[in-house]
Amino acid sequence: MKKSGTPIACLTSYDAMTAAMFDAAGIDVLLVGDSVGNVVQGHDTTIPVTLEHMIYHTQAVVRSVEHAMVVTDMPFMTYQVSPQEAFRNAGRLMKEAGCGAVKLEGGQRVVEAVSLMTTNGIPVMGHLGLTPQSIHQFGSYRERGSTQDEAEQIMADARALRDAGVFAIVLEKVPAQLAQEITAMVDVPTIGIGAGNGCDGQILVWTDMMGMSTEFRPRFVRRYAELHDIISEGVRSYVSDVRSRSFPSSEESY
Ligand code: KIV
Repeated sequence: MKKSGTPIACLTSYDAMTAAMFDAAGIDVLLVGDSVGNVVQGHDTTIPVTLEHMIYHTQAVVRSVEHAMVVTDMPFMTYQVSPQEAFRNAGRLMKEAGCGAVKLEGGQRVVEAVSLMTTNGIPVMGHLGLTPQSIHQFGSYRERGSTQDEAEQIMADARALRDAGVFAIVLEKVPAQLAQEITAMVDVPTIGIGAGNGCDGQILVWTDMMGMSTEFRPRFVRRYAELHDIISEGVRSYVSDVRSRSFPSSEESY
């Protein structure tokens, strides 16, 4: 798709029902993101997510998908300790969860682990820029790569990931110009989130782009629906119908 200039459409999914819908709607890649920690589990960060959580959610997604590639995030501390441990954990995601590839955050510091995986049949997606598992080190969710030093580091990390054999790189919250330069530099697709339209593809967290939350409204998210309002209204109507005994009707009864 990069070679033909066809932009790659990616979304997150954490369950069978949304995976089936997104797959049928033509999505190219479904990421079982560790954003499941924020979106489904109610945590403030992705840090508490475990390998077992990712296996559970990935299994649900994989069961529903007919076309899309399923990529699973490696959670915090499942690939940092040693390349061997990273390799074993990535292998569990492939064998037990059934994903087609894994994603991990970081550049030069993870290339040994990435090489071990890619030389042994595990496709790896990289993730640079704002890498949420490092939030306590960053101190904020601001964009990354807006200073010369940060931009040079991200470029070097992208080169290192490419050399280690990744098949794609997510660029999160980096300046559009930098993302475009990285996209031109590497021969693998770049997938942007808050990284402008010069990337080879785009990814969003599905609950953000469908308006499931009233609070989280970063400028890089386009809201394609206002599901929070639609669902809330539906539930209000249901409560009212139950209270008034207008639900269930005789047609809805046996
Ligand atoms: O966990 C996630 O959802 C992600 C995307 C934001 C790229 O990593």
